[in-house]
Amino acid sequence: MVNLKWKGKKDSKEILSKKFTATPFHILDNYQPKDFDLKSEERWQNLLCCGENRAIINSLLDTLENKISLIYIDPPFATGGDFNLKIQIGEDGKYIDDIAYKDKWKEGLDSYLTFLYERLVTMKRLLAHNGSIYVHLDWHISHYVKLILDEIFGIENFRNEIIWAYPAASVKTRHFFIRSYDTILFYSKSNDYVFNNDPNIYMEYSNRVKNALKKDEQGTFYYRGGSHNGKKLSRKVYVVQEGIFPRDVWNDIPYIRANTSEYQGFSTQKPERLLKRIILASTNEKDIVADFFCGSGTTLAVAEKLGRRWVGSDINKYAIHISRKRILNISSSNDILNWKKKYNKTSHSFKILSLEKEIEPQLISKEFLRKNAQIETVHTIQESPELNIEIYQNDNSVIIELIHYNNPYLNLVSEKIRDKITSFSDWIDYWAIDYNFNNHIFNNMWISFRTPKKRELTLTSKPFLYDKPGKYNLSIKLIDIFGIETQKSYKIII
Ligand SMILES: C[S@@+](CC[C@H](N)C(=O)[O-])C[C@H]1O[C@@H](n2cnc3c(N)ncnc32)[C@H](O)[C@@H]1O
Repeated sequence: MVNLKWKGKKDSKEILSKKFTATPFHILDNYQPKDFDLKSEERWQNLLCCGENRAIINSLLDTLENKISLIYIDPPFATGGDFNLKIQIGEDGKYIDDIAYKDKWKEGLDSYLTFLYERLVTMKRLLAHNGSIYVHLDWHISHYVKLILDEIFGIENFRNEIIWAYPAASVKTRHFFIRSYDTILFYSKSNDYVFNNDPNIYMEYSNRVKNALKKDEQGTFYYRGGSHNGKKLSRKVYVVQEGIFPRDVWNDIPYIRANTSEYQGFSTQKPERLLKRIILASTNEKDIVADFFCGSGTTLAVAEKLGRRWVGSDINKYAIHISRKRILNISSSNDILNWKKKYNKTSHSFKILSLEKEIEPQLISKEFLRKNAQIETVHTIQESPELNIEIYQNDNSVIIELIHYNNPYLNLVSEKIRDKITSFSDWIDYWAIDYNFNNHIFNNMWISFRTPKKRELTLTSKPFLYDKPGKYNLSIKLIDIFGIETQKSYKIII
């Protein structure tokens, strides 16, 4: 067996035998439909985990060992670059660019491979016996990772090297051939794995074939074509209407562009149609799909729309926020099986988890700060954000209005950005109310948030009716455009 060696490589047995204590998760946010029955058999809630995925994968072993049917990951590729996300401000199309994540590795390829190897070894334990893993990579790293995957999953379980080819129109190089594909390595955990011949995964015929399609008396589709000894024939070639069973070169799925409806402002966002093919081929309804580098939440949104259960994680709090909003707004996204229609259904219940009780406050990147303001200065600010609301109470009915928001960080934001702000609400991206906060889990009972396409924010909530008189703890959670969270609670008597 050929094995790849690098500096710092641990033995997989060493990784697995290391006694880790599964750190318990804290629930940061809870989203559940009113009729959600916590006692029912199907009390599964989809999971969005915020934090470093090594610890998250370890902690998930407690409940999900051998249970996940599909893992898709699109990790950093060790490109040496920074990846951006677009932060939109207010309602009228203004935005700033932030770094979504850095893909620089201090000790180069060795540290990158150690990073990925450790995680892949543990991910294998989460996979069900008939499960599969798809690892999304690019031309310069896939060969190293292929050897690692052969070692972990067994070369006999290597199913495909999928080439996702897309046009790279804007590349101007004349020093080498233009790179215009990604590689997705597909392994199963065993020989007995799910692989569905689902018509919805088929590739479309070329326009030439589509235009030539005809139906015979039985309603079966055919076109006239074929050739023999260089001579064109005009015999009938029978085909199924849905298209052709996919080859391993996928050139029918375009890259995400800023003007597409699914665009979330995340520069490495992958197309929903790519995940649709993978999820439909390798899982069945209700199966669990996981993406431990979920970014803008593409895998989770597609899994949700296809009736699969899902688990996602990301180290970047803003990525978690984008994913959360994407799931909450799923009804107005495109139906994955009928792209021309809207999905029109709300999401299943989900919760946001973290291994830390409170996530470190996210710092505003240097690019946004006034020239002389250092990150350290931002760090030491002790004042809490100013969040003012008005509570309008009429018997058992309550309405909340956001009156003002000012975070001390915001004073350090560069003039260039501050000039773009016309109202206090321009800083706000999301706010939610828990009318009966138990000081522990925040239940998002009323929410207003901006999405890439719908920029308005409602500043006054709808009336909420309390069932019974009593003392309640009403809590407000606000997330600003930098992903900084503020929560404030108020006592009310009904
Ligand atoms: C290439 S992006 C994924 C994009 C995603 N497929 C999509 O469609 O939006 C990689 C993501 O991995 C996250 N990431 C990098 N290292 C991580 C780690 N150690 N734990 C969790 N997430 C990590 C980054 O924050 C980033 O959001």
